[in-house]
Amino acid sequence: MKGNFITLEGIEGSGKSTSLNTITEILTERHIDFILTKEPGGGPLGKDLRAMLLSKSSEISPEVELLLMMADRKNHIDNLVMPNINKGVWVISDRYLDSTYAYQGGGRQINTSKIDSLARLLDLPQPDLTLLFDLPPPMALDRAKKRSELDRFESEPMDFHERIRDAYLSLNEDNPERFRLIDSSVDFLEVKKQVETVVLDFIV
Ligand code: TYD
Repeated sequence: MKGNFITLEGIEGSGKSTSLNTITEILTERHIDFILTKEPGGGPLGKDLRAMLLSKSSEISPEVELLLMMADRKNHIDNLVMPNINKGVWVISDRYLDSTYAYQGGGRQINTSKIDSLARLLDLPQPDLTLLFDLPPPMALDRAKKRSELDRFESEPMDFHERIRDAYLSLNEDNPERFRLIDSSVDFLEVKKQVETVVLDFIV
């Protein structure tokens, strides 16, 4: 049997990474074989592409950014994600294709139909479950600032982050069969409870 493909999405500082621990605990308890990975940078080409994409000194246009994200993703899917899913191993990815619709589509305002065409061209699979961590951008960026120095995306103005959030909320509305919305504006234990409910509900 194939493994499931679960993705975590949300703006910067939305609590995705912390929630990976919650998911890890549940899957381990249930003896489910899984791997954790992330985009950009999960595939063999990842380290170099990730550095190019996140460095503030990179001079890249929105279209080049889109193509690099998609190249990174195809490399990740072919070399890590699909081989594991085909072996029956679950794959949990911190970000995937919805990030491109939100950041390059919403944030950089690239027409969504261009992203659709690339996704079709590359034959990218759909996740089985997507957890969207949602909270107001000013609150999220405050958290991200406390964590580390801001990268190329995090340093963008607030309206960029607002557009990303709006794009994510539209994706959630358009794909109710796989999206589950997590309210990340509440305290950590409350977020954890929501994640547990969603993941346990998916497993049964
Ligand atoms: P990362 O440090 O992994 O951020 P986070 O911890 O918030 O996930 O950096 C990933 C950055 O890349 C993040 O700002 C979102 C951006 N990104 C895109 O713009 N498009 C994409 O398709 C992906 C996967 C990420």
